[in-house]
Amino acid sequence: MLYTVGPVHVAPDTLESMTKPMITHRSGEYKELHANIVEKIRKALDTDMDVFLVAGSATVFNEGAIRNAVNERCLGITNGSFGNRLIEIAELNGKAVDKVQVPWGKAMKPEDIAGKVGKDIEAVHWAANESSTGVFSDSVALSKAVSEQNPDALKIVDAVTAAFAMDMKVRDMDADAIIFGTQKDLGLPPGLAIMLCGERMLEKAKTVKNRGFYTDLLKIKKQSDTNYALTTPPVSLMYGLDYQLDKMLKEGMSNRYARHAEMAALIEDWADRRLAGVFPEEGYRSKALSVLNRGELDFDAFHKKLKAKGYEISNGYGEVKEKTFRIGHMGDVTPAGIRELLAAFDEILEE
Ligand SMILES: Cc1ncc(COP(=O)(O)O)c(C=O)c1O
Repeated sequence: MLYTVGPVHVAPDTLESMTKPMITHRSGEYKELHANIVEKIRKALDTDMDVFLVAGSATVFNEGAIRNAVNERCLGITNGSFGNRLIEIAELNGKAVDKVQVPWGKAMKPEDIAGKVGKDIEAVHWAANESSTGVFSDSVALSKAVSEQNPDALKIVDAVTAAFAMDMKVRDMDADAIIFGTQKDLGLPPGLAIMLCGERMLEKAKTVKNRGFYTDLLKIKKQSDTNYALTTPPVSLMYGLDYQLDKMLKEGMSNRYARHAEMAALIEDWADRRLAGVFPEEGYRSKALSVLNRGELDFDAFHKKLKAKGYEISNGYGEVKEKTFRIGHMGDVTPAGIRELLAAFDEILEE
């Protein structure tokens, strides 16, 4: 059983939902599937933004957002590996990037960007839930702080491990692009990138050169408006997505967010009692994944024993790789499952 940070455990019924006969992506059945997915994502996340779907991992839309939003200069706020990666993406695409580096384990806060969003900043990007540190920053507050300084600056939010696990308050966030993929809290295999896209982003894209083909949001929008994908979509995965969204809406988003919070609380309590606590600062701890301090734990030996019991968790990541490890509690995993996992942790520590 996977308690990893992604790809995550995929439930057997979900796997089964992906075994329907293939259809072509230019058929009426496909259009219906595409339209249903868009509508259900909007409902789950309470938004009327455009919902774009493209085959690929989430990074394709992180890159796409930057390529469509920025001619010259952007600002990257970062508190870990994935915020850093957005900066790297922008730089590799030839953009000049101003950087705000927040210490690992701390949340990015409005005061961190005070005075930094000048008129020449075309977009600001950050990771809502930093998967290397387990910090969930307040993207609503960050977005507000950006717009107060420069109302024209677009806001690009990597929500890869935030979406569907914690209430991001998409409406209040007022971002121009919010990006995620299937292999995290949607509880599906990898392979589909999803972007919530706002009108201002599309307007700006008209003025930006070198948007590419695959990542051209204007091309994607044109197809999306008729419930088609720009290029061949992963149809089987989309059957699974449609199925997972039904499951999610049936559970109810507030119940879902509460389930994730309960799992995070169980792990945090265990880490405080049995190990060296959790890494991220209080008040900003992710409910999708927990990053635990290793203390004296020999993680590799511990993980080997855990795998022998049938469980897999994730190593630390980036700068804090050697002093932390991570437990993913996304998608369909339950508090009961987390209790079992923690009981297995106890058994190993007692051995
Ligand atoms: C916050 C965050 N951003 C981006 C990514 C990269 O996503 P993908 O591998 O789907 O491109 C990850 C993957 O773990 C992530 O956690």
